[in-house]
Amino acid sequence: MQVLGIETSCDETAVAIYCSKDGLKADALFSQVELHSIYGGVVPELASRDHIKRLLPLIKKVINEAGITAHAIDGIAYTKGPGLIGALLTGAALAKSLAFAWNIPSLGIHHLEGHLLAPMLADNKPHFPFVALLVSGGHTMLIRVDDIGKYQMLGETLDDAAGEAFDKTAKLLGLGYPGGPQIANAALNGVKGRFSFPRPLLNRPDLDCSFSGLKTHVLTIWQQCKTQNIVDHQTKCDIALEFQNAVVDVLVGKCQKALHQTGLNTLVIAGGVSANDVLRSKLKQILGDNVFYPHLKFCTDNGAMIAYAGCQRLLAGQIEDNAIKALARWNLGELKAI
Ligand code: KG4
Ligand code: ZN
Repeated sequence: MQVLGIETSCDETAVAIYCSKDGLKADALFSQVELHSIYGGVVPELASRDHIKRLLPLIKKVINEAGITAHAIDGIAYTKGPGLIGALLTGAALAKSLAFAWNIPSLGIHHLEGHLLAPMLADNKPHFPFVALLVSGGHTMLIRVDDIGKYQMLGETLDDAAGEAFDKTAKLLGLGYPGGPQIANAALNGVKGRFSFPRPLLNRPDLDCSFSGLKTHVLTIWQQCKTQNIVDHQTKCDIALEFQNAVVDVLVGKCQKALHQTGLNTLVIAGGVSANDVLRSKLKQILGDNVFYPHLKFCTDNGAMIAYAGCQRLLAGQIEDNAIKALARWNLGELKAI
């Protein structure tokens, strides 16, 4: 089965073709980062308008790159939610229209299921069951994954998502958007020990976490630096380093606890923050071959993860009617198992 995947939940227009026999055949992405960067965050209406402009050319591109014609596509998977409602609707409307025109089935996919299953696109795939740490701009959660669609929430952030904390901290320090890569880059030049950061909720036995306090901590330090007139680039790098270390320590500690509490030994990390080198290498150090990540380009939003998840569900016979629907909020626990 060959599935066209469409992802438009936020600020990346991404499409891909996944084949159940040959694997990923083509993927393409247009990032709107530049469009939103002057605003320091995603402007929903601009995102929707740009998705409309980019989708069809990108779909034509992946069909060409896959060396197929539209007739060879057996099904369409699109991100149904959660995400920005206008942005989601652009993908849903196009998916439903193409499915109607081509007389093939279509299916809405949960964005986080896409992220969770993205490591399945790698050569070295994890086996079920595993614990997944989903860390993106909108979510930070630990989930027990027994199979596709069998998800049990173990813990989540009580306030900001980890990626959101990276983004807000970078904005505060004037490091640009999106914040994760900017903080990670600045941290490379940071000197350890100049600032000290707490490790929120790390010592609590549960698996919830909290990141808004770290962001406030940065604000307090930055204001002190301003009054002392030390707002040079090195100071930003030193703050970035300690902030990143604090986030990574909390995430790593909670992952270890989740593995211990579930008795499982496989960990999957996915979502934009799983691109973070320090997080990856710390987990690798501790868990060795028992930790699995998506390929770097499939950590952040992409069409391949939606095409893959859609392919598994379509193969299992799951389809939808032609109504165009999207869900700004959608609980992962509501998904059907396959
Ligand atoms: O999964 P994603 O592309 O979109 C959402 O579904 O949210 O994740 C985007 C988030 C942003 O907050 C971005 O700052 C963060 O992932 N991110 C990183 C890194 N690369 C992206 N955070 C830390 N380190 C990185 N290298
Ligand atoms: Zn995402």
